[in-house]
Amino acid sequence: MVNNVVREILAHHKNGNLISILKEVQDNRIDLSKDVMMDIAKSVGVSFSDVYEIASFYSFLSTEPIGKNVIRICKSIPCFMKSCDVVIKAIEKELGIKPGEITADKKFSFHLTNCIGACDIAPAMMINKKRYGNLTPGKIAQILDEYK
Ligand code: FES
Repeated sequence: MVNNVVREILAHHKNGNLISILKEVQDNRIDLSKDVMMDIAKSVGVSFSDVYEIASFYSFLSTEPIGKNVIRICKSIPCFMKSCDVVIKAIEKELGIKPGEITADKKFSFHLTNCIGACDIAPAMMINKKRYGNLTPGKIAQILDEYK
């Protein structure tokens, strides 16, 4: 059975643009679960794999459960060269979760992503739509406190 919010989103995306549909569904805090993606595929008239391919390709979409606050830290080469790995470890320690996981209170999910267009301030991450750069392990607790 199609979730009512998903049904409404599908109703005003008559052109069947999968990227826009998936983004809006996720922006409404609905996980892109297998069932939701199957509903979207059926409604738009494409295969499940067409929907899954898009949902798993773009860094701003996630087929994993997402939290109220979505942390996306860049793991591409420029950020890697600026030690994003130690920042990732600091986030893991602060939240007690690994990339791809969600905190028990569902306040945060944590994802590794490709370049977010902030190479000039590498290592960089986004929390929801806000970018943070020149990250160090020492800055992580203070940044995350803004969202707790
Ligand atoms: S490589 Fe990390 S933001 Fe571009």
